[in-house]
Amino acid sequence: MKVEQLFTGCLAEMAYYIESNGEAAIIDPLRETEPYLRMAEANNSKIKYVFLTHFHADFVSGQYDLAQKTGAKIVFGPNATAEYEIYNGKDGEEFPLGNGKITLLHTPGHTMESSSYLITDENGNTPYVCTGDCLFIGDVGRPDLAVKSDLTQADLAGHLFDSLRNKIMTLPDDIVVYPNHGAGSACGKNMSSETFDTLGNQKKTNYALRADMTKEEFIKEVTTGLKAPPQYFPNNVRMNKSINRNIDEVIHQGSTPLDADTFHEMSLQKDILVVDTRAKETYTEEGTVPGAWYIGLDGSFAPWVGSLITNIDQKIIFIAEDETRVNEIATRFSRVGYDNTLGYLFGGMKNWVDHGHEVDKINSMSALEFSQKLKEGTMEKPLDVRKESEYLSEHIVGVENFPLDFINSNYAEINPEKEYFLHCATGYRSLVAASIFKANGVENVTDVRGGFNDIKETGTPMTDYVCPTTLL
Ligand SMILES: [Fe+2]
Repeated sequence: MKVEQLFTGCLAEMAYYIESNGEAAIIDPLRETEPYLRMAEANNSKIKYVFLTHFHADFVSGQYDLAQKTGAKIVFGPNATAEYEIYNGKDGEEFPLGNGKITLLHTPGHTMESSSYLITDENGNTPYVCTGDCLFIGDVGRPDLAVKSDLTQADLAGHLFDSLRNKIMTLPDDIVVYPNHGAGSACGKNMSSETFDTLGNQKKTNYALRADMTKEEFIKEVTTGLKAPPQYFPNNVRMNKSINRNIDEVIHQGSTPLDADTFHEMSLQKDILVVDTRAKETYTEEGTVPGAWYIGLDGSFAPWVGSLITNIDQKIIFIAEDETRVNEIATRFSRVGYDNTLGYLFGGMKNWVDHGHEVDKINSMSALEFSQKLKEGTMEKPLDVRKESEYLSEHIVGVENFPLDFINSNYAEINPEKEYFLHCATGYRSLVAASIFKANGVENVTDVRGGFNDIKETGTPMTDYVCPTTLL
C-alpha cells in the first residue's frame, strides 16, 4: 500500500494519497484537482474515494470537483450535510481499497462531524491513522469553530476529550499519527513543526494526551487563550458545504494577462483591489502600482489573503514576480475561496513603467535609523504589528501593539494625518500593513527593514513581559 503525505507550506496543510492495487483514496484534498489526478494517473490508479476529516474552516477543499472528474465517492463522518451528494460513514465503517481498507472513526470535538481514518495495508497491519484536526503533533484542534446555540466551546472540548481517550489513545503506541495541519495553522494553538509522529511519543509529549488529565482540566486547557479565528473561516466552512465555481474556470480567469493600460484602468476602479505578490525586496526596490496591497507569495500568502481581504467575492488583479507562476497564484487565492481574480499585470512593473504609469514606493528605514529616531524622541507613532502574544513576550519600550491580524477591526484608530513607523519580526507583516495604510490614505508611513530581530541587535531597550501581579 502506498501512503503519501502531501504538505502545503502556505496553509501548513497535509492531504494524503493512499493507494492499493489500482485503487486510490485522497484524504482532505486542497481546492485544485490536478495534483491528485496526476498522481493517480502516474500510478495507473483510479480515485475511488475522497475522504474528509471535517468541513475545513481554513481552506476550501476540492472534493466536489475531484468527485465530478473521477466519479469518486465523497465520504464524511456522521451527521455531515452538504449541498452536494455525500456519503455519511458510520463509526467503525470499513471502506475496501485495493487489497487494504480504510476505517472511519468518528472523533467529534473540533467539529461534530470530525472523523479520523485508520489505514490498513494488504497484510492486515494498521500503520497509520489520519487524525484530521482531532489530534495534531503537539496539540489538538481548537473547539470553538463549530459553536452553535446548543453547543458551547466547553461541550465541544468535552467531546474532543472523549474522542481522544476512547478512540485515538486506545490505538497501538507504534501507530503513526498523520494530522491535517502543522505549525503555522490557526486550527490549533501550539502545533509542532513536525508533520507526523508515533502515538506513543505523542502520549509522552503532547500536553492534551497527559494520562492523568481530567476532563475538566482538558476543557480548561484547550479553551483558554483562544484568539478570534481569522475572519475568512466561516466563509470557507460555508463554501465547503456548497457547490462552488469550477476550479479550472477560476484559475483560467485569474491567469488572464492584462496589458499595462488595461491594468491601469482596472486599478482605478473602486471595486477592484490590486495585490502585489512579489518578493519583498523586489517590491520595495522597484515600487508598485498606486493603491496596491502587498501580500507576498513568500509569506503565509493564502491565510493573509483570507485574514485581510474582508469580502470573499472581492475582484482582484495582481502583480507577479514570475509570470510562469500566475496559475499558481490564482490557485493560491482560490484555496481560501477568493475566486474573483481577474488577471495579472502582463510584463510586470517594467511594462507598467514603460507605459508611463505612476509608481508608488513605501518609505523604509533600517533598524539602526529606527532605533536612533526612537531614542531622540522624534518618532510620532511607532507601531509593532506582530501578534499580541509576540508583543507580550518581548517588545520595544515605547512602541504600541497594532497586530496585522486585526488591522481591519482596529483600523479606526489610525489617523491619516499622523506619521507611522511599522515593524514586525522580520519585515514581511510590516510591509503588508504599510501597504494597507498607504492604500487607505496614510501618506506618512515607514517600514522598518528587518523588524524586531534587527532592532534588538541595536541595543534598543526592550520590555520583557511582566505578569501584572508581580508589579504590585
Ligand atoms: Fe479544521
